Amino acid sequence: MSRRDSILREMGIAPLWRDRASPSPQLTTVEALPNAQAPVEAQPPAAPVRVDAAPARPVAPVVTPVAEPSTTVSAEGLGWDELEQRIRACQACRLSERRTQAVPGVGDREADWLFVGEGPGAEEDARGEPFVGQAGKLLDAMLASLGLARGHKVYIANAVKCRPPGNRTPEADEIATCHPYLDRQIELIRPRIIVALGRPAAQTLLGGEIKIAAARGRLFQRKGVPVVVTYHPAYLLRNPQDKARAWEDLCFARASVV
Ligand code: URA
Repeated sequence: MSRRDSILREMGIAPLWRDRASPSPQLTTVEALPNAQAPVEAQPPAAPVRVDAAPARPVAPVVTPVAEPSTTVSAEGLGWDELEQRIRACQACRLSERRTQAVPGVGDREADWLFVGEGPGAEEDARGEPFVGQAGKLLDAMLASLGLARGHKVYIANAVKCRPPGNRTPEADEIATCHPYLDRQIELIRPRIIVALGRPAAQTLLGGEIKIAAARGRLFQRKGVPVVVTYHPAYLLRNPQDKARAWEDLCFARASVV
């Protein structure tokens, strides 16, 4: 078995896939769309999905604030070291009260790929690094399936930098408060592609209400950076039948890297 097949097997999706060149998706801006208001309609791809069937349906970027921040945080103009210090010392929202430590992010500061999750879990809170638990192992396998590795041309961050107690989903105001930190990370990295892992990350990056099933296979744009949306690895651990779709999304993202 090839190394690639064994990686896909580890993701639970082999041997469905052939590595054909994916079609190049068109990044379409709101101005270029005939129906600029086109909503994201629910249209999950039929199973089984295939790499060479990845849809390239353009969609208008929807950038509206999800909620008001409880406190205004500023990260404008900060360099990496100042930014990380600011995040580690942050007490702008209630998440700071019960964290062990803030988890700014990890990886190549000049990454081509930025993966954005939801927020640190227990292991991440203890170790200070994103995606180091079970979901992180699957994320690493997903990266490997693309020929990528944590820290090499890849940066991993979260929508919120502090662990929500009991691993609950971060509240909209917590996400909004933390948003300037992610925004500044994106400005500093200037990635070629952003992959939103799960709904909170997608909503953080794109604003408004996003449904993963509807947003998959569409190329969004955030301040000139292409964004694709896929399932969160923790969701995939609970729903392994969707790993094939996640693989399709990653191939779509790879084909979208400009
Ligand atoms: N889930 C996330 O969204 N982020 C992490 O860092 C770990 C688990």
